Amino acid sequence: MPLDAEFRTLGDLESIAERATPPPVWAYVQGGGEEERTLRRNRRAFAHWALQPRMLTGVRSVDLRSTMLGEPVSAPFYGSAVAYQALLHPHGEVATARACAAGGVLAMFSTLSSFPLEEIGATPAGPRWFQLYLQPSFDDTRQLVERAERARFKAIVLTVDVPILAVRDRQVQGGGVAIDLPQSLGNGPHVMTPGRAPTFDGKLYRFEPPADADWSILERLAHHTSLPLVVKGILTAEDARQAVEHGARGIVVSNHGGRQLDLAAATLDVLGEVVEAVRGRVEVFVDGGFRRGTEVLVGRALGARAGGLGRPLVWALAAGGEAGVARWLDLLKTELAMDMALIGRASVAAVDGGAVRRVLSSRDPEYPAERRSQGP
Ligand code: LAC
Repeated sequence: MPLDAEFRTLGDLESIAERATPPPVWAYVQGGGEEERTLRRNRRAFAHWALQPRMLTGVRSVDLRSTMLGEPVSAPFYGSAVAYQALLHPHGEVATARACAAGGVLAMFSTLSSFPLEEIGATPAGPRWFQLYLQPSFDDTRQLVERAERARFKAIVLTVDVPILAVRDRQVQGGGVAIDLPQSLGNGPHVMTPGRAPTFDGKLYRFEPPADADWSILERLAHHTSLPLVVKGILTAEDARQAVEHGARGIVVSNHGGRQLDLAAATLDVLGEVVEAVRGRVEVFVDGGFRRGTEVLVGRALGARAGGLGRPLVWALAAGGEAGVARWLDLLKTELAMDMALIGRASVAAVDGGAVRRVLSSRDPEYPAERRSQGP
């Protein structure tokens, strides 16, 4: 069936992708840490917020354009870094890069990409950032950063929430992909996948966190690249302040798509305190559970510069390769423009704190019990 015939709305995408993906790979992509409570929290957190439309504003056109660290983008959302994209489609990150560049949408590419970062960088130019995992030695880390700068990536996004890879029940139960798949590592067989499970030495449970894993790494990296440094995986105001004080130019409020620490907060529920903590000194981005145009607007209204989408990006890749990603971007932009028209805002800049309000759904534990009996 032609892609356009079945891929009619963003709501169609996940089921199309599942049909196109081998079960173990699907378990890897969809899986979250342990029992996936944070994975679910990310999606449920949108129920805590309502968009506040303004009527009769005379809006007759909508401008989605924005910037991310000064780089022009066609919309306030981006493709979040997802590893091993050749598991979803043979053209993997190259297809993603081509479609996102053609759409003017920023994309982040993983250290663990299936294609060499140089091959990604050789596709038609577009807003493109390199997601960095610290390597066993600083020299290995430095080489990745220098390669990314030479390959025309415009920022380094240091992921800090994987000192060790979480256990993901679904991935294990689904016969999931052992993610140390050297054959799918485009950046070289020596590139380290995140730390393995702890080992017990009779006294202590030891694991191998990446080398240099303290805040001074930001200053060390800054000596080896002119690219701005973004820190991804921040969930507290304290760490946000640390990142700013150590020279970060951007922060991604992220719980790794619910794939790491289970029972971590939903990103949407901590976004406001991170935005407040940085006091406009750096740009704040957010990912975690984003699917629709309305959700991008909530993230923007809560102070994020843009919202990152990871799973939907690779669903689109699985559904149709470059054409699938292009179709996804077109649908998401069109939906976002419609949503902005519905809230009466003509530009991304107009989507401020007044565009959203906190609400309690009757399922929310904070919801006053006496009101619960009266239904939602
Ligand atoms: C994951 C790592 C590889 O979430 O980013 O699987």
